[in-house]
Amino acid sequence: MSALIEMKDVEKIYQKGRHSVHAVSDAAITIEKGEIIGLVGESGSGKSTIGKMLIGLEAPTNGFITYQGANLWNKTKFKRSLPGEIQTVFQDPQSSLDPRMTVKEIILEPLYALPSKVRKEKGGLDKLMALINRVGLKAEHLERYPHEFSGGQRQRIAIARALITDPSFIVLDEPTSALDVSVQAQVLNLLKELRQERNLTYLFISHNMSVIRYMCDKIAVMYKGKIVEMGTAKCIFENAQHPYTKILLSSLLSIQDTTSQKLLFAAPEKSESKNACVFFERCPSRTSLCEESPSFEQREEHHHCACHY
Ligand SMILES: Nc1ncnc2c1ncn2[C@@H]1O[C@H](COP(=O)(O)OP(=O)(O)OP(=O)(O)O)[C@@H](O)[C@H]1O
Ligand SMILES: [Mg+2]
Repeated sequence: MSALIEMKDVEKIYQKGRHSVHAVSDAAITIEKGEIIGLVGESGSGKSTIGKMLIGLEAPTNGFITYQGANLWNKTKFKRSLPGEIQTVFQDPQSSLDPRMTVKEIILEPLYALPSKVRKEKGGLDKLMALINRVGLKAEHLERYPHEFSGGQRQRIAIARALITDPSFIVLDEPTSALDVSVQAQVLNLLKELRQERNLTYLFISHNMSVIRYMCDKIAVMYKGKIVEMGTAKCIFENAQHPYTKILLSSLLSIQDTTSQKLLFAAPEKSESKNACVFFERCPSRTSLCEESPSFEQREEHHHCACHY
């Protein structure tokens, strides 16, 4: 495997009037070709912001993001010479699919955003038919509108739309969170099969650890805009180091597990220090050392963690 995407020292600050929101700080992620990397963390931890910087929706405030070795962003300008290479599927197919467009128009739309020369190479009705069959839709669906479909079918439409330009990399932002559990499994399996068939690379965003375990080769855990732990799925699930990762995992463990219970019910306490560890407030193991933010250090091969302990 070789690196498809590299993020280094990436920071994103949103300005809200006179306030600034530090949505992402010091993010460093390497995404290898062909892998599924999971991004997990609670609401507001910065997962979607990372996804948006990778698909061109938000410019990083600082830092570097490269795609196949070349900068993805030139200050606030997104690289234009990647026709259709990077695509996305969002959580809520209800709001991400334009209700006034037919399924055919929705799926073909990303092709029309490409330069005409590239479009001709990638286009063709045969390809559209093969694609809709592959995602589990039928020819007769093409002239219908999104509201005529179930949540699972709508997500299949969104997947076909993402695949029409033959991308290499897809950001999947909570792609199955809005679906029933049984439908969720079908869509996850479809995504896994497509990765294999098309040699795709995914950034898979979720707050659900069991979905992450099912899907991902590598996992990055975020808390308040920082990546606090990153490693192979095996490292994270068998040898989690960060107390926050342990809390996330405790949702999968039995209720008798006393360490995780202790972690879950730790009394919050604010630090006076501006430079404290992001997890200080909720960490049951905090000491005075944690008033100083820990660096992101290697724990074992392919496993990094930001914690003094
Ligand atoms: N356009 C924006 N303007 C200002 N603040 C924003 C904007 N988008 C996101 N934020 C803030 O940045 C932080 C990170 O948001 P983000 O959407 O990346 O979180 P998330 O991990 O995807 O959360 P969720 O699980 O709820 O989707 C949050 O504090 C959020 O309020
Ligand atoms: Mg989000």
